[in-house]
Amino acid sequence: MGDAPYAPLAGRTIVLCITGGIAAYKAPLIVRSLASRGAHVDCILTEAAAQFVTPLSLQSLTGRPIYTRMFPVEHQRSYEIEHISLADKADLVLVAPATANCLARLAHGMADDLVTATVLATKAPVLLCPSMNVNMYEHPATRANLATLRNRGLEILEPEQGFLACGWEGKGRLPEPERIAAEVVRLTSPQDLAGLKILITCGPTCEDIDPVRFITNRSTGKMGAALVEAACLRGAEVTVISGPVALKYAPWARVVDVRSASEMLAAVKEGLDGVDVLIMAAAVADYVPKEYQRRKIKKGRSEMSALELRPSPDILATIKPLKDKRFFVGFAAETDDLKENALEKMKRKGLDMIVANRVGEEGSGFASATNSGILLSADGTQEVFEHVEKTMLAHTILDKIRGAW
Ligand code: PMT
Repeated sequence: MGDAPYAPLAGRTIVLCITGGIAAYKAPLIVRSLASRGAHVDCILTEAAAQFVTPLSLQSLTGRPIYTRMFPVEHQRSYEIEHISLADKADLVLVAPATANCLARLAHGMADDLVTATVLATKAPVLLCPSMNVNMYEHPATRANLATLRNRGLEILEPEQGFLACGWEGKGRLPEPERIAAEVVRLTSPQDLAGLKILITCGPTCEDIDPVRFITNRSTGKMGAALVEAACLRGAEVTVISGPVALKYAPWARVVDVRSASEMLAAVKEGLDGVDVLIMAAAVADYVPKEYQRRKIKKGRSEMSALELRPSPDILATIKPLKDKRFFVGFAAETDDLKENALEKMKRKGLDMIVANRVGEEGSGFASATNSGILLSADGTQEVFEHVEKTMLAHTILDKIRGAW
């Protein structure tokens, strides 16, 4: 498995059209988010947008010419017709921010500036990110224009709720650049998992001792979150069952929050209906307090010095009889005898695949951005991975599932 950085937009050209709203000030950050994912970004700036963000800022970030006019004599080094050449080379045309005026002109099929002409001429997917005053956004004219554009197959990323530059509060804020870039990645990704329903468990469980204390582990949810994002980007319908974590899951997934191993077991049982693939990336407690103490255990009391534990329900072992045609993937977190322990777990828990990862070392297992170990399949195949980014490993795991499905 390679160790190149994860760059889902490598080799892709994104044409970013910036129209004249205050949110245009976020355009340089959108460029950065796209470029950090490997994209080439070409920017078109309307005259009004150039009042909010300068061509020079964008040119410095993209290292490419910035397009501002429909017929720019000074740009005609290659004698290309720009709205056509940009439309043709785009893998995706992104309009962010898209003002109410721009949406109205697009809905009427106008082509009176470089942005509208490019959108009209392109065969690539178009993502519109409307941003404006809440009353303009909620106006029936804007609603109708958005409905028209959506019906024509243009993608729309809804604005967010919040304080608006005009002083009003409501829906109209441009989503954060990272959110926009994530949507671009999804729209340019192969949808090879479309139609597949995947249930993924993530993070740690917390087992309460008393109202103050609990037992948990070092899982941050990163490995699970990488799987969630990768599966969503590739078109799968994803439900996450998550223990308490600080991170955010991909916006397309349905998230079910749980706390303890027994809550996770109940949620997995309920969530299995209609699911094709289960991936258990969660670090589930193996032992839980025998009894929850409703009142804080005082220092020095015997309950604390001899905390009694009992085994937690083994989720995979419990649901084994419900497996049917579903594909079950487990993880094995090991410090020693990685392969032997993982093979034993795969067999005992009736899994189709197990991801054996090393824990207790730098750059692997809990909390790190990378992971090391072996992917083992019930058909006997295996693949070693060393310090591979969890985002990349997630795609490899999904490739294997797809191959076996
Ligand atoms: O979240 P991160 O910080 O990114 O860390 C990632 C990770 C190290 C937590 C992850 O890669 C990982 O290894 N998850 C599984 C951890 C674990 O519980 O391993 P295990 O070897 O104890 O369990 C084997 C399998 O049985 C796992 O799929 C586990 O989810 C499942 N299990 C465990 C206990 C239990 N009571 N019921 C279970 O179903």
